[in-house]
Amino acid sequence: MPYTFAVAGKGGTGKTTVASLVIADLISRKRIPILAVDADPNANLNENLGVEVPVTLGDILAETRDRKNMPAGMSKRRHIEYQVQTALIEKNGFDLMVMGRTEGPGCYCSVNDILRSYMDELMPNYAFAVLDNEAGMEHISRRTTRDIDDLLLVSDENPIGIRAAGRILQLVNDLEIFVGRTHLILNRARREELHPKLQEEIDKLDLELAGRIPEDDNVLDYNLNQKSMLELPEDTPARKAVVEIMEKILQ
Ligand SMILES: Nc1ncnc2c1ncn2[C@@H]1O[C@H](COP(=O)(O)OP(=O)(O)OP(=O)(O)O)[C@@H](O)[C@H]1O
Ligand SMILES: [Mg+2]
Repeated sequence: MPYTFAVAGKGGTGKTTVASLVIADLISRKRIPILAVDADPNANLNENLGVEVPVTLGDILAETRDRKNMPAGMSKRRHIEYQVQTALIEKNGFDLMVMGRTEGPGCYCSVNDILRSYMDELMPNYAFAVLDNEAGMEHISRRTTRDIDDLLLVSDENPIGIRAAGRILQLVNDLEIFVGRTHLILNRARREELHPKLQEEIDKLDLELAGRIPEDDNVLDYNLNQKSMLELPEDTPARKAVVEIMEKILQ
């Protein structure tokens, strides 16, 4: 099974940015092949990675759920397995799977089962997996996110984000999802030093701070110009901070 990173945190704190920069870092360390999974129904990891997504898993599952769309003479399982492969986008060093909306009216239980066994077969092909989760943590609560080696909880530098990170950690513990280690990453840091009160909040929640990523205009600039985060130069403050964080984590 690949070494798996999952990124979670409150909405808009920089989960997708962190996931992309983690992928950039792994690629530059040649820790490949990587499976990138966008588990956010409002998927945008692909944009951050500069990848076009013709079809999401959700599209495929919705279509195959409808038996009338099935070619004659093919079992439902085989048909879904075949279709699901078309949602895997292969790039240099990584493949991207976009979940899209995998819930809808009616029951998806049987397709979810097929999907799960397909993912179990797919995963061993990769050295690393990076999962960008949605803010609501649906995947964690529905347990489609499974064993995680490193859970990266992203927060901006305010107590609300940090408490949200603490709640996600609680949810993970309650659900008994296997998580090797949890790291807090503070993003969009504007101050030179971490505010001592924030450090107190972090200590109270028993979270360990892996590092701080500064507010970096290059990130915004790349987003605005629809440029891939994978091309963000290594000497930019955000990229540099992630290199340091990954150095610590991968030790
Ligand atoms: N370190 C940073 N410096 C400057 N801008 C940043 C930084 N990190 C993120 N941003 C900006 O913040 C916005 C939100 O980031 P991002 O999409 O990564 O958050 P998210 O947590 O994935 O959001 P969502 O909850 O909607 O999925 C983006 O426009 C991005 O450009
Ligand atoms: Mg996101």
